[in-house]
Amino acid sequence: MPRLKYASILRVFVIVGLLCLWVQIMLSASGVGMDKDGDEFTVQDIINTTNSEQYLQEELMNSNDTSEQVLALVPPELHKYLTVHPRNNSANATDRTSPKNITDIRKAIQMYNEAQTIYNEDIFGPVQNDTIIIAIQVHTRLTYLRHLIVSLAQAKDIDRTLLVFSHDYYDEEINNLVRSIDFTKVMQIFYPYSIQTHPNEFPGIDPFDCPRDAKLEQAIKLKCNNALHPDLHGHYREAKYTQTKHHWWWKANRIFNQLQCTHGHTGMVVFLEEDHYVAEDFIHMLNLLRTTADRTCPQCEILCLGTYLKTYQYHSNTDKRKKQLNLNYIQQVRAANEERRKRLQETQWNYQVYPNIYSAVQKVEITPWHSSMHNMGMVFNKTVWNDIMALQEQFCAYDDYNWDYSLLHLSQNRPGREKFKVILCKGPRVFHIGECGIHHKKSNCNASTVISKVQKLLQNAKQYMFPTRITATISAGGAKHNKKLTKGNGGWGDIRDQELCANMTKVGRQMKKYFYYS
Ligand SMILES: *[C@@H]1O[C@H](CO)[C@@H](O)[C@H](O)[C@H]1NC(C)=O
Ligand SMILES: *[C@@H]1O[C@H](CO)[C@@H](O)[C@H](O)[C@H]1NC(C)=O
Ligand SMILES: *[C@@H]1O[C@H](CO)[C@@H](O)[C@H](O)[C@H]1NC(C)=O
Ligand SMILES: *[C@@H]1O[C@H](CO)[C@@H](O)[C@H](O)[C@H]1NC(C)=O
Ligand SMILES: *[C@@H]1O[C@H](CO)[C@@H](O)[C@H](O)[C@H]1NC(C)=O
Ligand SMILES: *[C@@H]1O[C@H](CO)[C@@H](O)[C@H](O)[C@H]1NC(C)=O
Ligand SMILES: *[C@@H]1O[C@H](CO)[C@@H](O)[C@H](O)[C@H]1NC(C)=O
Ligand SMILES: *[C@@H]1O[C@H](CO)[C@@H](O)[C@H](O)[C@H]1NC(C)=O
Ligand SMILES: *[C@@H]1O[C@H](CO)[C@@H](O)[C@H](O)[C@H]1NC(C)=O
Repeated sequence: MPRLKYASILRVFVIVGLLCLWVQIMLSASGVGMDKDGDEFTVQDIINTTNSEQYLQEELMNSNDTSEQVLALVPPELHKYLTVHPRNNSANATDRTSPKNITDIRKAIQMYNEAQTIYNEDIFGPVQNDTIIIAIQVHTRLTYLRHLIVSLAQAKDIDRTLLVFSHDYYDEEINNLVRSIDFTKVMQIFYPYSIQTHPNEFPGIDPFDCPRDAKLEQAIKLKCNNALHPDLHGHYREAKYTQTKHHWWWKANRIFNQLQCTHGHTGMVVFLEEDHYVAEDFIHMLNLLRTTADRTCPQCEILCLGTYLKTYQYHSNTDKRKKQLNLNYIQQVRAANEERRKRLQETQWNYQVYPNIYSAVQKVEITPWHSSMHNMGMVFNKTVWNDIMALQEQFCAYDDYNWDYSLLHLSQNRPGREKFKVILCKGPRVFHIGECGIHHKKSNCNASTVISKVQKLLQNAKQYMFPTRITATISAGGAKHNKKLTKGNGGWGDIRDQELCANMTKVGRQMKKYFYYS
């Protein structure tokens, strides 16, 4: 009898304990700010969320928070690229500098794309077949772009390159900054299918598109545009997620196949993004990688200047979206907490380990190309682009909204040929400085903090820059990196996206049109 009583008391304790645990989990969940479960949505809810997120994303990031510490390490003649000019609100709306409406922006974009103007060509000479082209994908993060430009300005031999800025957001402040570059040739190209210029229609957000989280039956009942084409996870397209892949693809097509100045170009094309930062010897390193590849690895299609020591954060959004699909609520909360903990940890050590990687004998590695490891400071030429173009369907029809995973899928499905191989330098020459801005608004992680870390790191590594020789190791890559992709991350199920992607490859080379300004 007493034994039984004891057992029931124990049972009460256990139940109370579990209850406490549950309350705690609920409390920590509310701090994380989880997405609402897909089942409890109303259409209006989702549309409102999408729009407000859109607004946040489209806001031009152009703050004046470059710290004295950072400025101290930037040569004075380059401070001009970091100077934020306040918008002139006192000027009248009819002023020439007033913001343009969408009709005007579309016109301007078309005009600039047709003109194909190369700034500073008169000073630095015409584009040659072997000129290194540096393609920079730009959205709205102007603060980071300023620092990228400062880093490019300090790179040796930058005056022999062509910088191609590819924009998916038209803004006079961005344009003025880009056109103020005076250290090499510059060209601007404008992605013509942006959300900015298509706010209420595909490829932007059409009001009659299905909400992301609608179920198939609901969508069919709603008769929304793309009801029959959810992605492999059952979600409908989100314009802002598809834009990056479209823009990447359009830019590559534009540069290799459509510009007049690249007709006959056989040189290297370097792919950068607005929040990257380069080392002063990156062009030297590029040439060294090229000659090493020619000698020891002629089949290395891709060169890579940046390497992550760990694949962190870059795809955290993707992974979150994917991972949490099949988890119940408590598992989701745990996953979110775990991710937050990891993120904090990684930003702390992230840049501190790099200096050990630079050593007197510079190491390069030859390994199968992998999207998330080798997507930063990637380099290839027209020959390789032609190989990619031959399999464009693998890129355009693959249900994944990440350009790099789509390219990996293509790489793994080359009939009769091996995966792309990459030759990369283990001491990175390209850094990702933009990690902070998006995910760490609330913590004390700002652009200046990261840039200052990279600056110091490059100063410490100065004696190892401009190596005269390098040693190559050949690696088969880890099991994880050789694993064949089975299915994509989704977000690219809409046939309109696949069709637009395919359409971009059908445009031929276009001669420059000359404009006469009155
Ligand atoms: C969504 O926006 C509409 C129109 O702007 C507004 O009437 C409605 O109250 C909003 N709904 C929510 C849940 O915020
Ligand atoms: C930007 O910051 C600098 C110093 O921190 C200051 O001198 C300058 O006036 C600021 N510019 C604007 C537009 O706020
Ligand atoms: C702002 O606009 C007014 C009127 O056009 C002009 O007088 C003034 O110089 C402008 N200020 C700046 C900082 O450009
Ligand atoms: C703006 O325009 C009005 C007339 O439309 C004029 O009176 C005013 O002086 C102008 N302001 C500036 C700053 O140019
Ligand atoms: C856009 O602005 C221009 C003048 O800058 C004007 O002529 C045109 O009508 C405007 N278009 C729309 C759709 O508002
Ligand atoms: C560049 O390539 C084109 C096409 O192959 C060729 O006609 C042209 O002569 C080359 N230009 C130079 C400077 O080598
Ligand atoms: C382009 O790159 C490939 C692969 O690295 C190489 O084999 C080829 O020689 C390069 N083409 C030119 C014209 O340099
Ligand atoms: C960013 O960090 C720097 C250095 O850590 C600090 O001086 C500056 O005040 C910070 N700026 C903001 C806006 O938090
Ligand atoms: C692709 O091109 C075809 C033919 O020009 C056109 O009918 C179709 O609307 C285009 N699709 C998209 C999504 O742009």
